[in-house]
Amino acid sequence: MELKKRKDDFSSNNSDALRTQIRWLIRRDMDEVLAIERASFEFPWTEDEFLACLRQRNCIGTVAELDHEIVGFMIYELHQSMLKILNFSVAPHMRRQGVGRQMVQRLIDKLSQQRRREIVLEVRETNLEAQLFFKNCDFRALQVLRNHYDDTCEDAYYMRYCLRAADADFQSGNRLSEFDAA
Ligand SMILES: CC(C)(COP(=O)(O)OP(=O)(O)OC[C@H]1O[C@@H](n2cnc3c(N)ncnc32)[C@H](O)[C@@H]1OP(=O)(O)O)[C@@H](O)C(=O)NCCC(=O)NCCS
Repeated sequence: MELKKRKDDFSSNNSDALRTQIRWLIRRDMDEVLAIERASFEFPWTEDEFLACLRQRNCIGTVAELDHEIVGFMIYELHQSMLKILNFSVAPHMRRQGVGRQMVQRLIDKLSQQRRREIVLEVRETNLEAQLFFKNCDFRALQVLRNHYDDTCEDAYYMRYCLRAADADFQSGNRLSEFDAA
């Protein structure tokens, strides 16, 4: 499923977002990623926390790059039937230009009806901006996780994006898959 595009996606204001490249996070990106992390969160992950997470076999890091500058990053986990976003941020000066949506769309494109059909995440109850962002990306809040964090007594919302059968049919509906199924 393709997320709703901004009506002004093709205006000059948004041409930067259109040129964003999404690639694997590598060790030498860490300084820029940490700068975005610290600018974005009251309780940022440390470098050690990033590295410990990325050492896990099922953990993936990606960055969005624009003109050789890292403008966003995402850390997610692979599970048998879903992907879980663990950490995700866009540099403050690059927000509201479609970078976040592009990164989430990249993740949605990895889903398939046969295997992983869902993307899940936890978002702080005070992080209204992220809640509105994910709602706009067709995620829905499923559950309130009471006192979820060690650092504050905040609750979390458990949000989920679920691939619809119609979208998956569209994605997998090519001649080869029909041949395989026969
Ligand atoms: C959440 C975040 C990643 C969104 O990234 P972004 O690149 O600014 O998002 P986009 O430009 O792709 O926004 C897509 C749509 O989401 C919604 N949206 C995004 N930010 C919003 C905000 N601050 N308020 C209301 N709606 C918002 C809008 O509908 C927007 O479309 P529009 O700009 O055409 O109105 C970014 O705000 C961020 O890094 N926040 C701090 C870190 C964070 O909270 N991460 C998530 C942890 S769970």
